[in-house]
Amino acid sequence: MDLWIATNNKGKLNEFKVLLNPISNLKIFSSSDLSVFSAPPETGTTYLENARIKAKALKAVRPEAWSLGDDSGLEVTGLGNLPGIHSARYAGTNARDSENRAKLLKMLQIRNITDRSARFRCCLVVLTDQGEEWIFEGVMEGQVALKESGLMGFGYDSIFIPKGESKTLADLEPSFKNKHSHRALAAQSFLQKLTQ
Ligand code: IMP
Repeated sequence: MDLWIATNNKGKLNEFKVLLNPISNLKIFSSSDLSVFSAPPETGTTYLENARIKAKALKAVRPEAWSLGDDSGLEVTGLGNLPGIHSARYAGTNARDSENRAKLLKMLQIRNITDRSARFRCCLVVLTDQGEEWIFEGVMEGQVALKESGLMGFGYDSIFIPKGESKTLADLEPSFKNKHSHRALAAQSFLQKLTQ
């Protein structure tokens, strides 16, 4: 099974390679394997719409294969669930992960927000080789840490403490994230659907 994943985010791609490893005869490709492909603008207003835009863009160039679009983000309760679908661009269009994290910590600090509860949300849209659309979702609850800690993962991992844990995702073993994360839960539903 050839699966094209619509992402240039190496962190996401590496996670998918581990999460989808149980699929037999799986070959994973990503948009960065294409010489001419420009990522479509994420003009949707929901994770689902954006995930669908990504999956469809890749399906248009690889119609015979499976394609997968992932849209995900971090929702912070005290910030009215921002950055949400804007997570990748919270500090600006081409912001680095470190700049997004710094802005988030700053916003909580300057607004004196004490409710640091938050959740990662992930929506996957899979377009099958037969043209069907499958949708999967996953959520991981937790809270925003007071400061950065840890070197693993990507994005907001070093400032997110999963519910019931005392360390950030970037401090915890990758095996924790690959079992409990928003992306892991959505990917588990995908694996389940494949074996139905
Ligand atoms: P997009 O889905 O490519 O629009 O971007 C999602 C953004 O949300 C990423 O760039 C990260 O900033 C953040 N994000 C999504 N999933 C994770 C995760 O598993 N860990 C840390 N940050 C994440």
